[in-house]
Amino acid sequence: MNEYILGIESSCDDTSAAVLQGTRVLSNVIAGQKVHEQYGGVVPELASRAHQQNIIPVIDAALKTAKIEKNQLSAIAFTRGPGLLGSLLVGTSFAKAFAQTLDIPMVEIDHMNAHILVHFATDETHTEVPDFPFLCLTVSGGHTQIVVVKDYFDMEVIGKTIDDAAGEAFDKTAKILGLPYPGGPVIDKLAKIGNPEAFSFAKPQIPDLDYSFSGLKTSILYTVRDNLKTNPNFIEENKADLCASVQKTIIDILMNKLVKASKQTGIKTVAIAGGVSANSGLHDAMLALGEKYHWKVFIPRLSYSTDNAAMVAVAGYFKFLKGEFASQDLVPYARQSLNQ
Ligand code: KG4
Ligand code: ZN
Repeated sequence: MNEYILGIESSCDDTSAAVLQGTRVLSNVIAGQKVHEQYGGVVPELASRAHQQNIIPVIDAALKTAKIEKNQLSAIAFTRGPGLLGSLLVGTSFAKAFAQTLDIPMVEIDHMNAHILVHFATDETHTEVPDFPFLCLTVSGGHTQIVVVKDYFDMEVIGKTIDDAAGEAFDKTAKILGLPYPGGPVIDKLAKIGNPEAFSFAKPQIPDLDYSFSGLKTSILYTVRDNLKTNPNFIEENKADLCASVQKTIIDILMNKLVKASKQTGIKTVAIAGGVSANSGLHDAMLALGEKYHWKVFIPRLSYSTDNAAMVAVAGYFKFLKGEFASQDLVPYARQSLNQ
């Protein structure tokens, strides 16, 4: 339990570094990238450049906060994919060079795997971790999956989106309503003062445990477009109600299949992970369903929901224990992920 692991995350638009001692988080530094706000989404080329600027200061800060020297590190864990290739290259190249210099092993981590394993990151106040097997609803900007987690690296995706991810549904709604990127946190905030029953939107009829969010986007677009014809101030006057109604619809869609998955598998330990798992409405829904169905619910702490390196480091620690090290000639992958 004494090994110090450095985690590096650079798959999208957050540059993050964390130091863990075993599973205990000593630091988790995250540098976001404001540059994308004005474009209403992540611009890959700008993301790579910002990672290049941020990576050394972020790693420095993570080591300083953890109060350790770089030569105390036992291994370096980094996100290999999926994500933006240019962004991943920054973290991967840095990890290779740093591991080589320090003469320590490096461990490659799948981003979606890491989002789930963040539930094993501990600190003074968080010591309880889920027992295997558990279900995890992983909801981020690029993925929406229901995963049966049988062991740290034995995961089965039993449901996934066939088009947009849940995070995209939040982000695209924000764009329609003229709200800034990323849309999730803004919609979450406005939803708190809105009426979730004010508007109703089409819900998908998708078989099994799969999801679809592209129809919802179209439904929102039509509602807004039709109302703007008679009232040019429609969005302004109904912003909070629109946000609350959209958020409720997304959560209903997500929870519906999660309940189905729990019933089908008989698994009652249920977790959420990924950026959208920061959503306060989703927290409330998980706690309510936990009561109703006697689930043991796991919700990540806020800074562990969106992209962070603590999740990469904790996943790295478990791989380190298995002795599964990455070779210096590996390259990042943009798409491949769990089960592929
Ligand atoms: O996991 P993440 O940080 O990056 C990816 O791996 O994609 O997830 C980012 C997504 C974005 O779509 C963002 O709008 C969403 O997470 N998000 C939220 C909230 N905070 C971030 N969605 C809903 N409510 C939130 N509070
Ligand atoms: Zn993510």
